Amino acid sequence: MITLTFIAPDGTEIPATANSGVSLMEAARAANVPGILAECGGACSCSTCHVYIEGDWPAKLPAIGEDEADLLDFAFEPDAQRSRLSCQIMLSDALDGLRARVPSQQG
Ligand code: FES
Repeated sequence: MITLTFIAPDGTEIPATANSGVSLMEAARAANVPGILAECGGACSCSTCHVYIEGDWPAKLPAIGEDEADLLDFAFEPDAQRSRLSCQIMLSDALDGLRARVPSQQG
C-alpha cells in the first residue's frame, strides 16, 4: 500500500492510500480530493488533474512526456519545476510518501 498526502489550496492535508499501478489522479479521486476534476478521465487531454509535486519528489518521478508537457502549458499557473498531470503518474512502491498540492483552480 502506498501512502500519499494531497494538500488543498488552503493548506489542509488530505491523506490517501493507493495500490501500485493506479495513477495519482485515480488515487486522488478515490480519496475525494477536491479540485482534481480529471475531465478527460485520464486520457491526457484536459489538464484538469494538474498538481504541484512537493519537496524533492519531482526528481523521483518519470520524465514528463511530450503530450503532458504540451497540456501543462494550459494548466492554471504551471510551475516548470513542480507541475505534473496526476493522471500521467503511475504509482509504485518507490513513490510511497509522495506529497502533491492541488492548485487553487484548474484550467
Ligand atoms: Fe485529463 Fe489528466 S485527467 S489530463
